[in-house]
Amino acid sequence: MEIVGVIGSGAMGSGIAQIAATAGHDVMIYDVNEAARIKSRDKLLAILNRLAAKGRLTDSDAKAIFSRIYFVDTLEQLEACGTVIEAIIENLDIKKKVFSQLEAICGKDTLLATNTSSLSVASIAAACKNPERVIGIHFFNPAPVMKLVEIIPAIQTSQETKEKAFQLINNWGKMTALAKDTPGFIVNRVARPFYGESLRIHEEGIASPATIDWVMKEIGGFRMGPFELMDYIGHDVNYKVTETVWKAFYYDPRYKPSFAQKVLVDAGYLGRKSGKGFYEYGESSTAPEPVKDMVAGKKIFDRIIVMLINEAADALFWKIASYEDIESAMKNGVNYPKGLLEWGKELSYTHCVTLLDDLQSYYKEDRYRCSPWLRNQITQQA
Ligand SMILES: NC(=O)c1ccc[n+]([C@@H]2O[C@H](COP(=O)([O-])OP(=O)(O)OC[C@H]3O[C@@H](n4cnc5c(N)ncnc54)[C@H](O)[C@@H]3O)[C@@H](O)[C@H]2O)c1
Repeated sequence: MEIVGVIGSGAMGSGIAQIAATAGHDVMIYDVNEAARIKSRDKLLAILNRLAAKGRLTDSDAKAIFSRIYFVDTLEQLEACGTVIEAIIENLDIKKKVFSQLEAICGKDTLLATNTSSLSVASIAAACKNPERVIGIHFFNPAPVMKLVEIIPAIQTSQETKEKAFQLINNWGKMTALAKDTPGFIVNRVARPFYGESLRIHEEGIASPATIDWVMKEIGGFRMGPFELMDYIGHDVNYKVTETVWKAFYYDPRYKPSFAQKVLVDAGYLGRKSGKGFYEYGESSTAPEPVKDMVAGKKIFDRIIVMLINEAADALFWKIASYEDIESAMKNGVNYPKGLLEWGKELSYTHCVTLLDDLQSYYKEDRYRCSPWLRNQITQQA
């Protein structure tokens, strides 16, 4: 079995290393920061021990997996790897530098992958003399738990690299979705209205975060409400992804960030990790009560879900991914209770189009434009 290299031993790199070592590979993790390497090593050991204590792994398997993970302190030590997955800081210049150095270190057949969430894979591949071996392999957090991995070939990526990436990730027991190299790929694009439309409804004073969270869980069946989820992800991270996607789409108003979230970032109220976001997490804090009004709640739910369905429909219209992969990505990458296109069908495409047209005529904003794919469904049904 080939040796797998991982660059960056943070949240994602550690998770990816755990998956590869569990699949039987020897894994080499490199991180510039010694403290990060130590933290990752301790965390992996604790996780594997916990899995063994819970009976999900035998003691000897846990030990064997851990013994296959080697922490290295120079990039040069990744020389013998057959695949290298980069999961360092989300900064294009730094990633490009790492890829150009890596190319000179590894053999010419080594697959070089990036776990970037929002940067163009083509721009990272362009740092290499042989960009055809570069591809996006995008895991979700926590990587060992989430079933989905998006595979994103850049325009430079060869068919051979693409096939190898699919085979490797499928062998690791993950579900794959093929995505075009466009901002946010599938999940980080299609999920934007879950946050964005909820924030707007809150900013307009229609409902509080607690009420909107209640609506999306009670009526929508989502595991977490949008505000709870943003507090969990961290507003610095979530705001940055929204802003990056918005800019990358040439300031399309559909992805416009919100002031309600920006002020939280400005104030350092980053969510759970700082003890305060939309909610407070101190021991003495009490959770605000939602207004449990089903009629008003249904209106809020309709507006958010229809924006999500529209986003999924538009991703399909622009051939970002197949129908099946868009559905699977949202269910397996972010645990949506249903595929959004199926949801649109259930609610009726006519209902979705009418609601979007109503929103657009009320707000007079391009944000609410209906995807041609949704309109086409009605024409085809007629
Ligand atoms: N956290 C998520 O939810 C998530 C999900 C999917 C993808 N991603 C992407 O994965 C990547 C890593 O994210 P993360 O959350 O694990 O970040 P993190 O901050 O937890 O870890 C990044 C690690 O990279 C190291 N690093 C920085 N520059 C380096 C360099 N030049 N060489 C080697 N190591 C270097 C840092 O020391 C740090 O330990 C990013 O591109 C991010 O966008 C993150």
